[in-house]
Amino acid sequence: MGARIPGPSRRETFAKLGMQPFLRLPTFLAEVSERYGAIAAFQLPFRRFLFLNDPSQIKDVLVTQQHAFVKSEGGRALRRLLGNGLLTSEEPEHRQMRRIVQPAFHRERIAAYARAMLEHARRWCEEHADAATIEMHASMSELTLRIASETLFGVDAGEQASEVRAALRATMESYPSGIGPLGQIRSRLGFLPVTRRFNEARARLDEIVYGLIAQRRASAETGGDALSLLIAAEDAEDGYRSSDRQVRDEALTLFLAGHETTANALLWTWYLLARHPEVERRLHDEVDGADFSRDPMEISASLEYTRRVFRESMRLYPPAWIFGREARERVMLAGGYEIEAGTTVLIAPLVLHRRPDLFPDPERFDPERWLRGDTPQFAYVPFGGGARRCIGEEFAWSEGVLVLARLARAFHFEMCDEREIETVALVTLRPKGPVAMRVTRR
Ligand code: HEM
Repeated sequence: MGARIPGPSRRETFAKLGMQPFLRLPTFLAEVSERYGAIAAFQLPFRRFLFLNDPSQIKDVLVTQQHAFVKSEGGRALRRLLGNGLLTSEEPEHRQMRRIVQPAFHRERIAAYARAMLEHARRWCEEHADAATIEMHASMSELTLRIASETLFGVDAGEQASEVRAALRATMESYPSGIGPLGQIRSRLGFLPVTRRFNEARARLDEIVYGLIAQRRASAETGGDALSLLIAAEDAEDGYRSSDRQVRDEALTLFLAGHETTANALLWTWYLLARHPEVERRLHDEVDGADFSRDPMEISASLEYTRRVFRESMRLYPPAWIFGREARERVMLAGGYEIEAGTTVLIAPLVLHRRPDLFPDPERFDPERWLRGDTPQFAYVPFGGGARRCIGEEFAWSEGVLVLARLARAFHFEMCDEREIETVALVTLRPKGPVAMRVTRR
């Protein structure tokens, strides 16, 4: 028998989460963590949950005992959109796909991508006039979409940016309704407006991604971008041959995972900077001294304060705000806690990153906290960990730091109104409504 795990009763849990639990999870989990501490159990009809908010147990699940877990229902629900790609597949296919795609994320590739990142950031600065008002969420999505399509696909999807945004938004908004006791049923009922909107949006994204694959095949170049690797893997004479469908699943996964998360990370960083002028001033001091004609990887490595700002922003607003695993077998965790087979384990960076004992004065946006170097391992997990750790982490760091630095060098950003921006926790942590900002040339 393992140690007893505290938590709210079934009745209380159901009253708070209802039949569509996903949207209410952020508030519920924050409450549970405050009341019961770093580990808590709760149940909904047909599903047992364990909420882990402790670094050593999180390490257990993500690394030490990762073989005992598969992706949870939330991850599986993404298959409706992404099929069986890198994010959603299980072993052994996952390991095989990761090996195929990995070279596209090697250091030399990231160095080449970093040049494209800086070039797109420079163009953004050219395209925006002094005193312009900009909807920053759309603008950051378009910028990261352009970067992802050029670097990962070797094509320009800039013109389709608004369509991708609309389709992506529709798929994300319908995501919560596909989770929970009735999720599976709802997602099969094509006549429901939410399901119809999802199906239409997926068809549109498919069309765009198949178009990008066709463009890439037609071009004579076979670069080292991710799409070339996927297509080449399909053409290999022996061993693995991926189908059209497999290329589509991988490509759509990279296309979406590669721009949606970084767009949100950048958006939240501009928002925080606008509300903390003293941090913005220090950032300006650093980026004003940067020499943008140097090698982008060297520039990125030298911008230590900018990096801390990006790090701190992803602490408060982690774009992948939650991820989960399901235990395939009985597991014993650090501290003597036993997890029964079939239990869903939830890990929520949004709650973990605000634990006051791990991050003193947790609500404060304080990039300097990272200078202390006292954050325990696995207390900060915006990119997950273990074999399923984000493959795009280095890509995201380079893009975050270089885009922030290049844009902050050219412009000062301020909010058009002082209202606080609320979060909407869908697959990623997005802002509720538009985020209008005014830019002033520096
Ligand atoms: C700030 C930006 C990003 C954040 C916060 C982020 C976060 C994450 C997290 C938490 C996971 C693990 C999920 C889990 O364990 O269930 C993950 C996986 C993944 N990410 Fe990212 N990501 C970011 C950027 C990117 C980029 C730029 C790419 C591609 C260019 C990317 C592609 C992927 C893929 C393919 C996986 C699945 C990896 C696997 O299972 O082997 N991500 N990401």
